[in-house]
Amino acid sequence: MKYTICKKNELLPGEKKAVSVGKKSIVVVCTGDNEYHAIKNSCPHQGAELSEGRVGGTTVSQEVGVIQYDKINEVIRCPWHGFEFNVKTGCPLYPSDKTRIKTYDVQVEDENIVINL
Ligand code: FES
Repeated sequence: MKYTICKKNELLPGEKKAVSVGKKSIVVVCTGDNEYHAIKNSCPHQGAELSEGRVGGTTVSQEVGVIQYDKINEVIRCPWHGFEFNVKTGCPLYPSDKTRIKTYDVQVEDENIVINL
């Protein structure tokens, strides 16, 4: 079933929007032009609302002495204890196979951001 969240021009790169769809609490993040991702609005650690966290990127290091800022607008940081998750995959940035966040399919249809549940 499809649910319209908002117009795509209401959510710019780096912005997020919390929505309730039925009994589900979801946060939609705009990671770039016409690129939207949706995850469950609950941190798998202790349940904080991820919609209260900051969206940004992360630092990566490929070689000694070189640090780059990467994955801009793709990382959401939990407001309680700082765990970071990739909004595209729902996976944490730290190695773990038990704390993945549920993701939802998001599309743009007629200038609207739409979630498929
Ligand atoms: S509740 Fe999110 S890191 Fe603890």
